[in-house]
Amino acid sequence: MDEAIEITVTVNGTVHRETVEPRMHAADFLRRVLGLTGTHVGCEQGVCGMCTVLLDGEAVKGCLLLAPQLDGHEVRTVESLAEGGELAPLQQAFKDAHGLQCGFCTPGMLMTATALKESGRKLDRDEIREEMSGVLCRCTGYEGIVNAVDAVLNGTVATAAGEGEGR
Ligand code: FES
Ligand code: FES
Repeated sequence: MDEAIEITVTVNGTVHRETVEPRMHAADFLRRVLGLTGTHVGCEQGVCGMCTVLLDGEAVKGCLLLAPQLDGHEVRTVESLAEGGELAPLQQAFKDAHGLQCGFCTPGMLMTATALKESGRKLDRDEIREEMSGVLCRCTGYEGIVNAVDAVLNGTVATAAGEGEGR
């Protein structure tokens, strides 16, 4: 059996020193070792985007990283978004625009959108679709998700698909 490795990683502002199996992936580390089950796991091969978290501010797929690769870095998960029981603006926009149904993809969507928001880039709807395409949703048809991200990035009104201006 491979030897366990000690890592130090800051997750959602808290420094953690943990001993991990060398081949445990980062999403499993967050869920199983730190108990941060908001990060979901689907395909475990980099396709579905459910496991997306921010690594030093960049959106990355947690199933494609090994836990030892987190050593010395800063990770943010979906648990970092709400403050004091209040939804973050992106979370509120997803709620307002019906950008979720079962919610399984939502953490990946929110963290991908968070990276876009923090980049300061202005993106039109086609560009938002392109940038969000690394996270798959089986439920919503994506329109509400794009409406939510558009609302936060561009100050439009978050409306559910079929509502509003018929965009
Ligand atoms: S679980 Fe990581 S991309 Fe699907
Ligand atoms: S809301 Fe169900 S997978 Fe997206």
